[in-house]
Amino acid sequence: MTYKNKWALVTGASAGIGATFARSYAAKGANIVLVARREERMRDLAAELEERHGVKTRIVAADLAEPDAPQRIYDALSADGIVVDILVNNAGFGLPGVYTENDWAAHRAYLELMLVSYAHMTRLFLPGMLARDYGRIIQVASLAGLVPGSAGHTLYGPSKAFLISFAQSIAAECDGTGVNSSAVCPGFTYSEFHDVNKTRGLVSQLPKHMFMEAEPVVEGAIDAVEKGRAVYVPGAWNKFTAWLARTLPRSWAEKMVTNQSKRFRKQTGH
Ligand SMILES: NC(=O)c1ccc[n+]([C@@H]2O[C@H](COP(=O)([O-])OP(=O)(O)OC[C@H]3O[C@@H](n4cnc5c(N)ncnc54)[C@H](OP(=O)(O)O)[C@@H]3O)[C@@H](O)[C@H]2O)c1
Repeated sequence: MTYKNKWALVTGASAGIGATFARSYAAKGANIVLVARREERMRDLAAELEERHGVKTRIVAADLAEPDAPQRIYDALSADGIVVDILVNNAGFGLPGVYTENDWAAHRAYLELMLVSYAHMTRLFLPGMLARDYGRIIQVASLAGLVPGSAGHTLYGPSKAFLISFAQSIAAECDGTGVNSSAVCPGFTYSEFHDVNKTRGLVSQLPKHMFMEAEPVVEGAIDAVEKGRAVYVPGAWNKFTAWLARTLPRSWAEKMVTNQSKRFRKQTGH
Protein backbone atom coordinates (compact mmCIF):
# COMPACT_ATOMS: atom_id res chain seq x y z
CA MET A 1 0.00 0.00 0.00
CA THR A 2 1.44 3.38 -0.91
CA TYR A 3 -0.08 6.75 -0.22
CA LYS A 4 2.57 8.80 -2.02
CA ASN A 5 1.41 12.41 -2.62
CA LYS A 6 -1.67 11.91 -0.45
CA TRP A 7 -2.19 13.86 2.79
CA ALA A 8 -3.36 12.11 5.95
CA LEU A 9 -4.69 14.32 8.76
CA VAL A 10 -4.47 12.79 12.23
CA THR A 11 -6.02 14.41 15.31
CA GLY A 12 -4.45 13.62 18.66
CA ALA A 13 -1.16 13.12 16.83
CA SER A 14 1.04 14.20 19.75
CA ALA A 15 0.82 10.86 21.60
CA GLY A 16 -0.34 7.25 21.68
CA ILE A 17 -2.59 5.86 18.97
CA GLY A 18 -2.60 9.13 16.97
CA ALA A 19 1.21 9.34 16.84
CA THR A 20 1.20 5.68 15.74
CA PHE A 21 -1.26 6.47 12.91
CA ALA A 22 1.00 9.35 11.84
CA ARG A 23 4.08 7.08 11.83
CA SER A 24 2.28 4.31 9.96
CA TYR A 25 0.77 6.48 7.21
CA ALA A 26 4.12 8.29 6.80
CA ALA A 27 5.91 4.92 6.49
CA LYS A 28 3.45 4.10 3.70
CA GLY A 29 4.35 7.32 1.88
CA ALA A 30 1.65 9.80 2.96
CA ASN A 31 2.32 13.42 3.87
CA ILE A 32 0.99 14.09 7.37
CA VAL A 33 -1.05 16.88 8.99
CA LEU A 34 -0.62 16.64 12.75
CA VAL A 35 -3.31 18.15 14.99
CA ALA A 36 -3.27 18.33 18.81
CA ARG A 37 -2.60 20.96 21.50
CA ARG A 38 1.06 20.20 22.35
CA GLU A 39 3.00 21.82 19.53
CA GLU A 40 6.48 20.91 20.81
CA ARG A 41 5.64 17.20 20.73
CA MET A 42 4.24 17.47 17.20
CA ARG A 43 7.37 19.34 16.05
CA ASP A 44 9.55 16.45 17.26
CA LEU A 45 7.32 13.88 15.54
CA ALA A 46 7.12 15.90 12.32
CA ALA A 47 10.94 16.12 12.19
CA GLU A 48 11.17 12.35 12.72
CA LEU A 49 8.68 11.61 9.92
CA GLU A 50 10.36 13.96 7.45
CA GLU A 51 13.80 12.55 8.16
CA ARG A 52 12.85 8.88 8.27
CA HIS A 53 10.32 8.75 5.43
CA GLY A 54 11.02 11.84 3.31
CA VAL A 55 7.38 12.98 3.55
CA LYS A 56 5.99 16.49 4.02
CA THR A 57 4.34 17.47 7.29
CA ARG A 58 2.14 20.31 8.50
CA ILE A 59 1.37 21.02 12.15
CA VAL A 60 -1.86 22.67 13.24
CA ALA A 61 -2.02 23.28 16.99
CA ALA A 62 -5.66 23.26 18.06
CA ASP A 63 -7.90 22.48 21.00
CA LEU A 64 -10.70 20.43 19.47
CA ALA A 65 -12.94 21.10 22.48
CA GLU A 66 -13.29 24.65 21.04
CA PRO A 67 -16.30 24.68 18.70
CA ASP A 68 -14.58 26.68 15.94
CA ALA A 69 -11.36 24.57 15.92
CA PRO A 70 -12.34 22.24 13.01
CA GLN A 71 -13.21 25.21 10.76
CA ARG A 72 -9.91 26.92 11.66
CA ILE A 73 -7.99 23.74 10.82
CA TYR A 74 -9.83 23.40 7.50
CA ASP A 75 -9.26 27.07 6.59
CA ALA A 76 -5.53 26.93 7.48
CA LEU A 77 -5.01 23.88 5.28
CA SER A 78 -7.08 25.29 2.40
CA ALA A 79 -5.01 28.49 2.51
CA ASP A 80 -1.88 26.33 2.07
CA GLY A 81 -3.45 24.31 -0.75
CA ILE A 82 -3.33 21.08 1.29
CA VAL A 83 -5.91 18.54 0.16
CA VAL A 84 -6.76 15.93 2.79
CA ASP A 85 -7.35 12.42 1.39
CA ILE A 86 -7.24 10.51 4.66
CA LEU A 87 -8.86 11.72 7.88
CA VAL A 88 -8.18 10.02 11.21
CA ASN A 89 -10.37 11.46 13.97
CA ASN A 90 -8.64 10.19 17.10
CA ALA A 91 -8.12 12.94 19.74
CA GLY A 92 -9.62 12.03 23.07
CA PHE A 93 -9.35 11.33 26.76
CA GLY A 94 -11.38 9.90 29.63
CA LEU A 95 -13.18 12.11 32.13
CA PRO A 96 -12.99 10.18 35.42
CA GLY A 97 -15.74 10.03 38.03
CA VAL A 98 -19.49 9.45 38.03
CA TYR A 99 -21.79 11.79 36.11
CA THR A 100 -22.63 14.27 38.92
CA GLU A 101 -19.00 14.64 39.93
CA ASN A 102 -18.18 16.86 36.93
CA ASP A 103 -20.00 20.10 36.15
CA TRP A 104 -21.88 20.71 32.92
CA ALA A 105 -19.09 22.88 31.47
CA ALA A 106 -16.71 19.90 31.70
CA HIS A 107 -19.25 17.51 30.17
CA ARG A 108 -20.10 19.95 27.40
CA ALA A 109 -16.44 20.44 26.45
CA TYR A 110 -16.02 16.67 26.58
CA LEU A 111 -18.87 16.09 24.12
CA GLU A 112 -17.52 18.88 21.90
CA LEU A 113 -14.17 17.06 21.65
CA MET A 114 -15.28 13.42 21.65
CA LEU A 115 -18.29 13.70 19.42
CA VAL A 116 -18.97 17.09 17.82
CA SER A 117 -15.41 17.66 16.58
CA TYR A 118 -15.43 14.21 14.90
CA ALA A 119 -18.71 14.96 13.12
CA HIS A 120 -17.57 18.49 12.20
CA MET A 121 -14.18 17.41 10.82
CA THR A 122 -15.93 14.76 8.72
CA ARG A 123 -18.46 17.32 7.43
CA LEU A 124 -15.63 19.66 6.39
CA PHE A 125 -13.35 17.16 4.65
CA LEU A 126 -15.83 14.66 3.16
CA PRO A 127 -17.17 16.86 0.30
CA GLY A 128 -13.66 17.25 -1.20
CA MET A 129 -13.08 13.50 -0.95
CA LEU A 130 -16.36 12.78 -2.73
CA ALA A 131 -15.53 15.32 -5.45
CA ARG A 132 -12.16 13.60 -6.03
CA ASP A 133 -13.66 10.05 -5.83
CA TYR A 134 -11.17 9.10 -3.12
CA GLY A 135 -11.13 9.24 0.65
CA ARG A 136 -10.45 7.26 3.79
CA ILE A 137 -12.08 8.26 7.09
CA ILE A 138 -11.29 6.52 10.37
CA GLN A 139 -13.14 7.37 13.57
CA VAL A 140 -11.23 6.07 16.60
CA ALA A 141 -14.05 4.71 18.75
CA SER A 142 -13.68 2.01 21.42
CA LEU A 143 -14.85 -1.38 22.57
CA ALA A 144 -16.66 0.70 25.21
CA GLY A 145 -19.04 1.78 22.44
CA LEU A 146 -20.04 -1.85 21.76
CA VAL A 147 -20.75 -2.94 25.35
CA PRO A 148 -23.48 -1.64 27.70
CA GLY A 149 -22.82 1.69 29.43
CA SER A 150 -20.96 1.51 32.72
CA ALA A 151 -20.71 3.57 35.91
CA GLY A 152 -17.79 6.00 35.91
CA HIS A 153 -16.40 7.75 32.80
CA THR A 154 -20.11 8.16 32.11
CA LEU A 155 -20.04 9.83 28.69
CA TYR A 156 -17.12 7.81 27.31
CA GLY A 157 -19.09 4.74 26.17
CA PRO A 158 -22.02 6.76 24.76
CA SER A 159 -19.69 9.04 22.78
CA LYS A 160 -17.92 5.99 21.29
CA ALA A 161 -21.27 4.30 20.48
CA PHE A 162 -22.16 7.46 18.53
CA LEU A 163 -18.91 7.24 16.54
CA ILE A 164 -19.54 3.61 15.59
CA SER A 165 -23.03 4.36 14.33
CA PHE A 166 -21.78 7.55 12.65
CA ALA A 167 -19.04 5.65 10.76
CA GLN A 168 -21.68 3.16 9.57
CA SER A 169 -23.96 5.96 8.38
CA ILE A 170 -21.12 7.65 6.47
CA ALA A 171 -20.12 4.27 4.98
CA ALA A 172 -23.71 3.74 3.81
CA GLU A 173 -23.95 7.25 2.33
CA CYS A 174 -20.61 6.83 0.54
CA ASP A 175 -21.31 3.34 -0.79
CA GLY A 176 -20.26 3.19 -4.45
CA THR A 177 -18.00 6.24 -4.19
CA GLY A 178 -14.25 6.03 -3.66
CA VAL A 179 -14.66 7.04 -0.01
CA ASN A 180 -14.40 4.40 2.72
CA SER A 181 -15.47 5.02 6.31
CA SER A 182 -14.55 2.90 9.35
CA ALA A 183 -14.80 3.01 13.13
CA VAL A 184 -12.00 1.23 14.94
CA CYS A 185 -12.92 -0.14 18.38
CA PRO A 186 -9.78 -0.78 20.44
CA GLY A 187 -9.88 -2.23 23.93
CA PHE A 188 -7.13 -1.42 26.43
CA THR A 189 -4.20 -0.11 24.40
CA TYR A 190 -0.77 1.00 25.61
CA SER A 191 -0.61 4.80 25.28
CA GLU A 192 -0.75 7.80 27.63
CA PHE A 193 -4.55 7.50 27.93
CA HIS A 194 -4.59 5.94 31.42
CA ASP A 195 -1.91 8.33 32.70
CA VAL A 196 -3.98 11.32 31.58
CA ASN A 197 -7.17 10.03 33.21
CA LYS A 198 -5.23 8.84 36.27
CA THR A 199 -6.35 5.20 36.16
CA ARG A 200 -2.90 3.74 35.39
CA GLY A 201 -2.62 2.14 38.85
CA LEU A 202 -5.99 0.48 38.48
CA VAL A 203 -5.69 -0.78 34.90
CA SER A 204 -2.14 -2.05 35.45
CA GLN A 205 -3.72 -4.70 37.71
CA LEU A 206 -5.64 -6.10 34.73
CA PRO A 207 -4.32 -9.23 32.98
CA LYS A 208 -1.83 -8.49 30.20
CA HIS A 209 -3.88 -10.35 27.57
CA MET A 210 -6.46 -7.56 27.80
CA PHE A 211 -3.92 -5.02 26.44
CA MET A 212 -2.64 -4.36 22.93
CA GLU A 213 0.22 -2.29 21.58
CA ALA A 214 -0.90 0.67 19.45
CA GLU A 215 0.85 -0.65 16.29
CA PRO A 216 -1.40 -3.67 15.58
CA VAL A 217 -4.48 -1.56 16.40
CA VAL A 218 -3.41 1.02 13.82
CA GLU A 219 -2.26 -1.45 11.13
CA GLY A 220 -5.55 -3.31 11.47
CA ALA A 221 -7.55 -0.09 11.22
CA ILE A 222 -5.70 1.04 8.08
CA ASP A 223 -6.34 -2.36 6.50
CA ALA A 224 -10.01 -2.29 7.57
CA VAL A 225 -10.69 1.12 6.01
CA GLU A 226 -8.96 -0.01 2.81
CA LYS A 227 -11.28 -3.01 2.70
CA GLY A 228 -14.34 -0.86 3.40
CA ARG A 229 -15.17 -2.48 6.74
CA ALA A 230 -17.38 -0.02 8.61
CA VAL A 231 -16.63 -1.43 12.08
CA TYR A 232 -13.33 -2.99 13.05
CA VAL A 233 -12.45 -4.55 16.42
CA PRO A 234 -8.71 -5.26 16.78
CA GLY A 235 -7.35 -8.24 18.71
CA ALA A 236 -8.70 -11.65 19.74
CA TRP A 237 -9.67 -10.65 23.30
CA ASN A 238 -11.52 -7.54 22.15
CA LYS A 239 -13.29 -9.51 19.39
CA PHE A 240 -14.38 -12.07 22.00
CA THR A 241 -15.71 -9.30 24.29
CA ALA A 242 -17.60 -7.67 21.40
CA TRP A 243 -19.05 -11.07 20.44
CA LEU A 244 -20.18 -11.68 24.04
CA ALA A 245 -21.85 -8.26 24.20
CA ARG A 246 -23.92 -8.90 21.06
CA THR A 247 -24.64 -12.57 21.80
CA LEU A 248 -25.60 -12.58 25.50
CA PRO A 249 -29.12 -11.54 26.46
CA ARG A 250 -28.98 -7.77 27.01
CA SER A 251 -29.87 -8.06 30.72
CA TRP A 252 -26.94 -10.48 31.30
CA ALA A 253 -24.49 -8.19 29.51
CA GLU A 254 -25.77 -5.22 31.52
CA LYS A 255 -25.40 -7.19 34.77
CA MET A 256 -21.81 -8.12 33.91
CA VAL A 257 -20.91 -4.49 33.20
CA THR A 258 -22.74 -3.27 36.33
CA ASN A 259 -20.83 -5.72 38.52
CA GLN A 260 -17.56 -4.63 36.94
CA SER A 261 -18.53 -0.96 37.48
CA LYS A 262 -19.21 -1.68 41.16
CA ARG A 263 -15.70 -3.10 41.49
CA PHE A 264 -14.33 -0.01 39.68
CA ARG A 265 -16.23 2.33 42.03
CA LYS A 266 -15.00 0.43 45.10
CA GLN A 267 -11.40 0.53 43.92
CA THR A 268 -11.45 4.19 42.92
CA GLY A 269 -13.52 5.32 45.91
CA HIS A 270 -16.29 6.76 43.65
N1 LIG B 1 -5.64 3.71 25.10
C1 LIG B 1 -6.75 3.00 25.18
O1 LIG B 1 -6.85 2.04 25.99
C2 LIG B 1 -7.90 3.31 24.25
C3 LIG B 1 -8.88 2.33 24.06
C4 LIG B 1 -9.94 2.60 23.21
C5 LIG B 1 -10.01 3.80 22.53
N2 LIG B 1 -9.06 4.75 22.75
C6 LIG B 1 -9.20 6.03 22.04
O2 LIG B 1 -8.03 6.30 21.29
C7 LIG B 1 -7.93 7.70 21.08
C8 LIG B 1 -6.50 8.13 21.34
O3 LIG B 1 -6.19 7.90 22.71
P1 LIG B 1 -4.76 7.35 23.18
O4 LIG B 1 -4.99 6.06 23.84
O5 LIG B 1 -3.78 7.45 22.09
O6 LIG B 1 -4.46 8.42 24.33
P2 LIG B 1 -3.22 9.45 24.53
O7 LIG B 1 -1.94 8.72 24.39
O8 LIG B 1 -3.51 10.14 25.82
O9 LIG B 1 -3.39 10.46 23.31
C9 LIG B 1 -4.49 11.32 23.24
C10 LIG B 1 -4.27 12.35 22.15
O10 LIG B 1 -5.46 13.18 22.06
C11 LIG B 1 -5.04 14.55 22.06
N3 LIG B 1 -6.06 15.40 22.67
C12 LIG B 1 -6.65 15.27 23.88
N4 LIG B 1 -7.49 16.29 24.10
C13 LIG B 1 -7.41 17.11 23.01
C14 LIG B 1 -8.04 18.34 22.66
N5 LIG B 1 -8.89 18.97 23.49
N6 LIG B 1 -7.75 18.89 21.45
C15 LIG B 1 -6.87 18.29 20.61
N7 LIG B 1 -6.24 17.12 20.90
C16 LIG B 1 -6.52 16.54 22.09
C17 LIG B 1 -3.74 14.55 22.89
O11 LIG B 1 -2.91 15.64 22.49
P3 LIG B 1 -2.68 17.00 23.32
O12 LIG B 1 -2.76 16.66 24.78
O13 LIG B 1 -1.33 17.43 22.86
O14 LIG B 1 -3.77 17.91 22.86
C18 LIG B 1 -3.09 13.26 22.42
O15 LIG B 1 -2.38 13.47 21.22
C19 LIG B 1 -8.97 8.36 22.00
O16 LIG B 1 -10.08 8.77 21.25
C20 LIG B 1 -9.35 7.23 22.95
O17 LIG B 1 -10.66 7.38 23.45
C21 LIG B 1 -7.99 4.53 23.58
